Amino acid sequence: MADKPTKGLADVVAASTALSDIDGKAGRLFYRGYDIHDLAGRTTFEEAAHLLQRGTLPTGAQLAKYRAELAGGQTLGALVEENLSKIAEKQTPMEALRTLVSLATADDPDKSSNSPEANQRKAARLTAQQGILVARYHAARSGNTVPEADPALGVAANFLHQVSNRTPTPREIEIFDTCLVLHADHTMNASTFAARVCAATLADMHSAVVAAIGTLKGPLHGGANEQVMRTLESIEPSRVAGVVRGKLAAGEKIMGFGHRVYKTEDPRATHLRRLSEELSESTGDRTFYRMSREMEEVVFAEKKLYPNVDFYAATVYHYLGIPTDLFTPVFSVSRMSGWTAHVIEQHADNRLIRPDSEYIGERDQKWKPIDER
Ligand code: ACO
Repeated sequence: MADKPTKGLADVVAASTALSDIDGKAGRLFYRGYDIHDLAGRTTFEEAAHLLQRGTLPTGAQLAKYRAELAGGQTLGALVEENLSKIAEKQTPMEALRTLVSLATADDPDKSSNSPEANQRKAARLTAQQGILVARYHAARSGNTVPEADPALGVAANFLHQVSNRTPTPREIEIFDTCLVLHADHTMNASTFAARVCAATLADMHSAVVAAIGTLKGPLHGGANEQVMRTLESIEPSRVAGVVRGKLAAGEKIMGFGHRVYKTEDPRATHLRRLSEELSESTGDRTFYRMSREMEEVVFAEKKLYPNVDFYAATVYHYLGIPTDLFTPVFSVSRMSGWTAHVIEQHADNRLIRPDSEYIGERDQKWKPIDER
């Protein structure tokens, strides 16, 4: 008979990984041994993605090669092109991404191969395509066109330009790039676990990341950043403390707070709080930042919970002019680098992921023919 399950697999070590590590007590996060505090603000998203997918922080030459690969990988296949507008009409952003990434399999030049070399190429293409898919989806539903990507610019600059149809300032690009670095990987989070379960059946990389996108969508995971903004927008600024206390007293969860692994502040939130404050000053629109600070104080006083990555990401994206329902897709633009790196890692030393379950149903039931039930 199986042992009692650990609800939500809390504290269960489900895989070995050399990609990222969390010290939940100290509130520290590492990508391949590099402290996130050393990477954030100093490393571009492309460097972080190279670190995860290819194992090292790139040299100048490696970075140029990787960036060229990303620039060349942005072309969306014929099936995606044919269906994008129809999908944008009928599906929400995360539903659309799930569908579009699935459709992209059809025209991927490496679709019939699961080799390590093919998977490296697919990882770069998927990472290159995620931003353009979000921008093209948004343009299609808004009746706009997307400016051509500039291969001289990175993922962050092109994405901000394409989604807002205006030229972002150099500082906005730096801030958004830092956001992408901060979201790139995070050990055995729900979407990464989903990707690894799928990859461990030796299914292809596109299938694994489609599983991950579906998993990221939920409000207990990546969907929380959108919900944070909706909460802020729904509260009268002068009533934050009362409303938050009321929600907590009613047993409601406050989106953007709490974490399975961190027992102290999420180190990503430290950066995002600072960036949110900076943007609130530079835009002169301080209300949502101030409300966020007040929410943070109340939630800590009432429940001893800290903000997670999604809490201040919400106001940062808002100040950068990103539409609220694209916040979770933005998360996926970054996390695609981590998901694909995990698929590569899973395939390199694979065993089917197939846990046991505890049976809690009826036993020894007597079968009856249908007309006797
Ligand atoms: N607001 C209020 N209470 C909370 C919150 C919250 N945000 N988070 C946890 N709690 C409370 C729970 O109600 C529970 O209380 P109880 O023991 O009295 O029943 C206790 O803290 C433990 O919470 P669980 O949900 O069991 O903790 P778990 O480790 O399973 O969940 C999670 C972690 C999902 C992140 C949770 O904190 C949560 O739902 N937060 C809000 C959603 C959110 O922000 N998700 C994004 C997480 S980061 C990411 O995925 C990118």
